[in-house]
Amino acid sequence: MKNNIADIEKEALDQISATDSKDALEQVSIRFLGRKGVLTGFLRNISSLPEDERPAAGKNANLLKIKLEKEIRTAEADLSARDAGPSAGIDVTLPGRPAVKGALHPITQVMDEICGIFMRLGFDVAEGPEVETDYYNFEALNIPKYHPARDMQDTFYVSDNIVLRTHTSGSQPRVMEKNEPPVRIISPGKVFRCDSDLTHTPMFHQVEGLMVDKDISFGDLKGVLTTFVHQFFDEETSLRFRPSFFPFTEPSAEVDIRCVMCRGKGCRVCSKTGWLEVLGSGMVHPAVFENVGYDTDKYTGFAFGIGIERMAMLKYGIDDIRKYFENDVRFLGQF
Ligand code: DAH
Repeated sequence: MKNNIADIEKEALDQISATDSKDALEQVSIRFLGRKGVLTGFLRNISSLPEDERPAAGKNANLLKIKLEKEIRTAEADLSARDAGPSAGIDVTLPGRPAVKGALHPITQVMDEICGIFMRLGFDVAEGPEVETDYYNFEALNIPKYHPARDMQDTFYVSDNIVLRTHTSGSQPRVMEKNEPPVRIISPGKVFRCDSDLTHTPMFHQVEGLMVDKDISFGDLKGVLTTFVHQFFDEETSLRFRPSFFPFTEPSAEVDIRCVMCRGKGCRVCSKTGWLEVLGSGMVHPAVFENVGYDTDKYTGFAFGIGIERMAMLKYGIDDIRKYFENDVRFLGQF
């Protein structure tokens, strides 16, 4: 019998560190801690020791048992980790996964670009609510209830007097009510109409513009919009101001640009006319000024409304507006 605990400990620890398999470790465990193992044998034969050595020997044998159990568990965990190999943990030799970068939606990009052009011309941004009152969307803009002009815009009504705004023009009276001239603002945002085909979606975006001061003329309107078109497309893009009708402007004009696809030769996009309609505009109607309490003898102004999707379609040569809202990243990722 080995009667020296220190010898047993040294031998056991040597054998544990020498094992390189779980089976071998199991054998070491049985050899030292098993029912017929070295430590059990030691304890069984403790009576053969001199009486005064027995308590200390018993205690040391039990402490060694606890220590060896712990050493064996640790060795076992190390072997498990080794056997699992790199696939179980992190393989630092693999190439990194590229982070997927997001980007702004093309409509947001075009809206930012348009706002940027006008802001550099000195316009401030004034946003209005998407759920609007009948008053600001129509009445303040000289479109009375039951007037046929309402048919120009197929409206989503929330209740009798609340609508989803059909255009951003409601921002005009909202801003003028709160500010005395000079006023120079743009108002970008979502608008809603009950409409859906190749060139219409029930939700789309506009940027409204409004400039009011003493002596503002149609010449100022032409200058600002020409600068805008030249910066957004290019200097070669010519404009045409065509007489039109809007209840809140007089005179009113629709602005066409030389077709950016065929440069005016006539193609499918411009219906062979060589021109594309891009926005509505005009001199603010005196009735609108009266509704907000502006002195019509003192002030004049111009306003315009630009359809963002239309500008984005022309800039990027997109033929179906609905593509912008299908959320197909193969389409959106190209911008
Ligand atoms: N609000 C008009 C529309 O959505 C566009 C428009 C036309 C805005 C003329 C204006 C304007 O400010 O002066 O059809």
